[in-house]
Amino acid sequence: MNQSVLKAEKLGITFGGLKAVENFELEIGESELVGLIGPNGAGKTTIFNMLTGVYQPTEGAVYLGGRLMAGKKPHQMAKAGIARTFQNIRLFKKMTVLENVKVAFNLNMKYNGLQTVLRLPGYWKEEAEIDRKGRELLKVFHMEHLADNIAENLPYGQQRKLEIARALATNPKVLLLDEPAAGMNPTETAELMEVIAIIRKDFHISILLIEHDMSLVMSICERLVVIDYGQIIAKGTPKEIASDPKVIGAYLGK
Ligand SMILES: Nc1ncnc2c1ncn2[C@@H]1O[C@H](COP(=O)(O)OP(=O)(O)OP(=O)(O)O)[C@@H](O)[C@H]1O
Ligand SMILES: [Mg+2]
Repeated sequence: MNQSVLKAEKLGITFGGLKAVENFELEIGESELVGLIGPNGAGKTTIFNMLTGVYQPTEGAVYLGGRLMAGKKPHQMAKAGIARTFQNIRLFKKMTVLENVKVAFNLNMKYNGLQTVLRLPGYWKEEAEIDRKGRELLKVFHMEHLADNIAENLPYGQQRKLEIARALATNPKVLLLDEPAAGMNPTETAELMEVIAIIRKDFHISILLIEHDMSLVMSICERLVVIDYGQIIAKGTPKEIASDPKVIGAYLGK
């Protein structure tokens, strides 16, 4: 593998005496697309929460670009290069599409607090630059014509895409997508697949994908990690996983 972008070592977490995730191991290289699958309640979202600093793991470690991320908060993890979307869409519903993306760019803004408060030239220059970058990003997702629409008025599939665009605006090295195709119709799913291809090809970003849509997972992921009851039960190529009796018994056959 090329240099690892994200690495999890023996990650585990316990909630009130119950081990929700145990011994979770993962390594993702540059531009790689790895799928994380398993039955409902297996611990997939919990793994995302540990990887992004929402939960502090009770065991193990997370590395981003080779750096140990111990005790980091979500905003620190975001700054270090990890971005995510949520199982339930989280947008600034009353803000426009463009504003949603611009808010995310702000995470990496250079101007200082005083420039912002006084609206000094540095602020306006940077503000114009963010506007331009925001529109450019929307263009990549074929959403530039929607820039001034209120986020909550967009069709479901477009809201999902906007969430991904917003995650990308933080300039991540790795993107975690939690069931992005859930609730999408076939046309929206096809569009999502196109978006994922663009992210890898044009942005060189690694992706960890949680998804129950098996035809999507099997067709776009290079590798899969399968978990059940908080434990890894299989790892391999989609082809290997599809014919693994353990996986069929725990998940695919159900
Ligand atoms: N904050 C928490 N406190 C207590 N238990 C939790 C907490 N977060 C998650 N769990 C438990 O951990 C287990 C794994 O949940 P998780 O949401 O990670 O599953 P999942 O694989 O994402 O499932 P789904 O496919 O339904 O989204 C569940 O039993 C859940 O109830
Ligand atoms: Mg989940």
